[in-house]
Amino acid sequence: MSAKYEFGLVGLGVMGRNFLLNVADHGFSAIGLDKDKEKITALQEERIGKSLAATGNPREFINALKSPRKIMLLVPAGAVVDAVIDELKELLSPGDLIIDGGNSHFRDTDRRIVYCKKYKLRFMGVGVSGGAKGARFGPSIMPGGDREDYSLIAPLFESVAARVDGTPCVAYLGSGSAGNYVKMVHNGIEYGLMQILSESYSLLKDGLGYSNEALRQTYAKWNDGRLSSYLVEITTKIFEQQDDLGEGYLVDQIMDRAKQKGTGKWTSQDALDLGVSIPSIDSAVSMRQLSALKDLRLELSNKYPKTQMQKLQLTEADIEQAVFASFIITYAQGLHQLAHASREYQYNLHLETVCKIWRGGCIIRAELLNEFMHAFEGNTGLENLLLDSSIQSILKDALQGYRRVVASAIQAALPVMTLASGLHYFDAIVNERLPMNLVQAQRDFFGAHTYERIDRAGLYHTEWEK
Ligand code: 6PG
Repeated sequence: MSAKYEFGLVGLGVMGRNFLLNVADHGFSAIGLDKDKEKITALQEERIGKSLAATGNPREFINALKSPRKIMLLVPAGAVVDAVIDELKELLSPGDLIIDGGNSHFRDTDRRIVYCKKYKLRFMGVGVSGGAKGARFGPSIMPGGDREDYSLIAPLFESVAARVDGTPCVAYLGSGSAGNYVKMVHNGIEYGLMQILSESYSLLKDGLGYSNEALRQTYAKWNDGRLSSYLVEITTKIFEQQDDLGEGYLVDQIMDRAKQKGTGKWTSQDALDLGVSIPSIDSAVSMRQLSALKDLRLELSNKYPKTQMQKLQLTEADIEQAVFASFIITYAQGLHQLAHASREYQYNLHLETVCKIWRGGCIIRAELLNEFMHAFEGNTGLENLLLDSSIQSILKDALQGYRRVVASAIQAALPVMTLASGLHYFDAIVNERLPMNLVQAQRDFFGAHTYERIDRAGLYHTEWEK
């Protein structure tokens, strides 16, 4: 077959098929590869023409691509990515580009870059967000790797990505595994925001007695205001969905056990390694883990019945303030982690660019990202969003309601682990003096670990029990 397709895609699952159709819609010729005949047929039934093809034969796939070949993998993260690379490497030519578009661990991407280099192949790890609909009509794309390699695929990515004010939600982010790292933290923030919304749901429903219709109206109102975001928008829609299999609303029939594929946990794990504090994200991961312990929760709920708990003394406006403030704090933590990671892993990230490409297409897109983008544009070295004066003023206004919410939820025994973690993070990080002098004294007491003093330089040790 003569080389004619501009782009190749391996993995014709829902994401792959949709991405390929998106590519074809934008005038690029493309071919897909999948071992599963049904997936090939599905694509063929949807649309096949001069500019779009699908095959199950790797050699035919490779031979049908223009040189240097640009091949994106949308296959499950992990061993499958390595297996596909191994299969393709035998057929590819020096200078061909493999793009991993899955949620791969950033360390796997670093390893694969080195591996592919041995075969003179280019390799990029690229985060793609927006789910199936995003892949079809415009995702947010987070590319990392060599800038020169990116230039091979930039025109295609810029065409298929979501747009905000005419600007594509894709930009070169940084070297090595920067793209996967940014996507991982995106997902960590996603976990945090989702958990905050689920806690607000509990406050409104269990605390204030809102019906599903009242919940729908509340989230719709919030989405029309400063909380305007994809996650609030879909939450609104969830509260209008009736159950196909029975009476009433679907949401009430869904088991309260949240699953996870690992990217939120990876975010927390690496934050611990970097020494950066992201408790809103950590607590959201923890809550998914805790939610999975359904049987244990059931047993314990019988042993510790809720008696004489105070009623929630809150208004809907207080809860909106809490959600708003804790959203900002969650983004601030994730972006702070990116600032640390950029230095540690030499990604050379520009956080204004990260915020810019998160404004559309991705799961954590929100009006607030415009504010964040401006904050980093105004000060490219901004270490933490909370230092920015505009952020400071919008956050200050929401703090009173936020405090009332956390305090009242505790009195009412409604678990708000992520809302509370965000507030504790805030109160700690704005505190010039923390009680950690006592921890230092204890460390020195039992382990001679030494301590620093506030009035003079150097390390000190005391014989505490002389
Ligand atoms: C996205 C999502 C996507 C996926 C997550 C969900 O940006 O499109 O983040 O990548 O929905 O992997 O992860 P969990 O299964 O861990 O919730």
